[in-house]
Amino acid sequence: MNLKYALIAVSMCFSCGGTWAQSQIINAYARDNRSLNGEWHAIIDPYERGRHDMWKNRKPQNNNEFREYSFDEGIVLNVPGDFNSQLPELKYYEGTVWYGRYFDMPEPATGETLLLYFAGVANVADIYLNAEKIGHHEGGFTPFQIDITGKVKDKDNFIAVAVNNNRRPDAIPAMNFDWWNYGGITRDVFIIRLPEEHIADYHIRLDKRDPKLIHADVALSRPIAGRSVTISVPELNISKVLTTDSEGKASTSFKAKNLVRWDIDNPKLYDVILTTEKDTVAEEIGFRNIKTEGTEILLNDRPVFLCGVSFHEEIPQRKGRAFSQADAAMLLNEAKDLGVNFIRLAHYPQNEHIVRMAEKMGFMLWEEIPIWQGIDFGNDSTQAKAVRMMSEMVNRDKNRAAIAVWGIANETRPSEARNAFLAKLKETAQSIDDTKLISAAFDNSSWNKDKKCWEINNDPALDLVDIVGINKYVGWYENWRADPSEMGWNVKPEKPLIFTEFGGEALYGRHGNGEAKWSWSEDYQADLYRKNLMMFENVVNLAGVSPWILFDFRSPTRFSPLQGLEFNRKGLTSDRGQRKEAWYLMRDYFNTKNKDR
Ligand code: GCU
Repeated sequence: MNLKYALIAVSMCFSCGGTWAQSQIINAYARDNRSLNGEWHAIIDPYERGRHDMWKNRKPQNNNEFREYSFDEGIVLNVPGDFNSQLPELKYYEGTVWYGRYFDMPEPATGETLLLYFAGVANVADIYLNAEKIGHHEGGFTPFQIDITGKVKDKDNFIAVAVNNNRRPDAIPAMNFDWWNYGGITRDVFIIRLPEEHIADYHIRLDKRDPKLIHADVALSRPIAGRSVTISVPELNISKVLTTDSEGKASTSFKAKNLVRWDIDNPKLYDVILTTEKDTVAEEIGFRNIKTEGTEILLNDRPVFLCGVSFHEEIPQRKGRAFSQADAAMLLNEAKDLGVNFIRLAHYPQNEHIVRMAEKMGFMLWEEIPIWQGIDFGNDSTQAKAVRMMSEMVNRDKNRAAIAVWGIANETRPSEARNAFLAKLKETAQSIDDTKLISAAFDNSSWNKDKKCWEINNDPALDLVDIVGINKYVGWYENWRADPSEMGWNVKPEKPLIFTEFGGEALYGRHGNGEAKWSWSEDYQADLYRKNLMMFENVVNLAGVSPWILFDFRSPTRFSPLQGLEFNRKGLTSDRGQRKEAWYLMRDYFNTKNKDR
């Protein structure tokens, strides 16, 4: 580890208001990057004492001076990675941690644009460079960047990132959620070197319905008219030259005769190269159509049943955030063995390694921002944060064919404010990329005992979605009010419906008492799954099932030492990768369903 470091403190200024970070560069990982991953020095500051000057990294100048801080020889944290899992004293920590390190610019930066890029910092970040505050960002799961052109020296630059993971009522997520509140510089950090005039953004996708029509929008970093931008897809013998308008933008549409569409059984990606006189960027892009027709989801004009599962961005064996390619492979390979074709990346945008690897493996994805239960829907600044987070997520992943669904909420209750808030999120997502379907997970179904069916009454948000997502824990949080084979569902029968969450808890290896929830036995969990699958057969508009959840995961809201303290045990697979009886039951179910396509 080429570590030039010193203490550099970071001040957490709870500067209110939006983010200082600028709009994000597309396909950041493919650019000319200098990684800042590795060991950073840090200081834990629960009382926010350092904000006045710690980030100046000042040393005593004479015998009459001293400093109340020094990180030299202090604690070291690995970046990327959450801080909670790196030091025992940080396990439950919610507050400010100061990060910092020195770096040199390997080649003098002359005339390029330099962007400091963060793939994710949980949850509020304030950034300093050479003792100057340069940025602020809120939201732990989307990338942001800061233009540092002209602000760096060849040697001994001093970068500081302040990180705070306190929960707040006006934040997203808010005060209470069922996953570990990991904080830290949880994803990659790097400096991107770009020509001053570069390709800043593009969106290249198949038409929503036409299987051969490709649309492309490109934007340069400067509003300059008359620049030529070439888009080529060598394998399709396509090369289009566009000319930018006064905003530095250009658009085109073209037919691709021999196009092979990306599909779950053939996740075909094409090399797409964009070039200008000064810049080149290469991307792998899949082209597919997805839509709903009646109660069916059609992928490339063929009905597809979503054989799904959810997972958190967490490696349970390490009890920490997932952040690497290897972590992505571990999670996705377990999903592949289960036989799924669809993954709900719960409950927040996960890192780009997971998204891109899932696309290469042929998984359809559901992505969402953490609009999880008790959000302060009536707060304008909360809505502004949600709109920005949704924009950051959709902008990062709009070129990913694997994404089938933008999720706009999880378990929220109807109200005027919430209905308007969700409509705004749908509009935000579709204004950037309308080639994905819109859904939300509803947990407000109620039992109609006369009709012997579950229904959702008076929720206008059902009209916002293309696909209805249902979270329902019959056999766990709900009891069986009738024989599963007699229980119906009457929710938006004219739209596709998927069970986005169902299941129950089991401690791997615990058997017996199969009739008792309190047993946390594999027997009880498997029986619960059998009954739910039986019930699902009565759902006339069933288009998919996605058990909650692939792996046991950590949550500070799970208190029983008998069930493996601080773990939610609804996993089909334990936190040590051991497959429970229900795992095999779902694998067999998915095998039958996959054959139907
Ligand atoms: C909810 C929620 C999940 C949570 C689950 C549970 O449906 O969406 O995030 O983990 O219930 O209680 O296990």
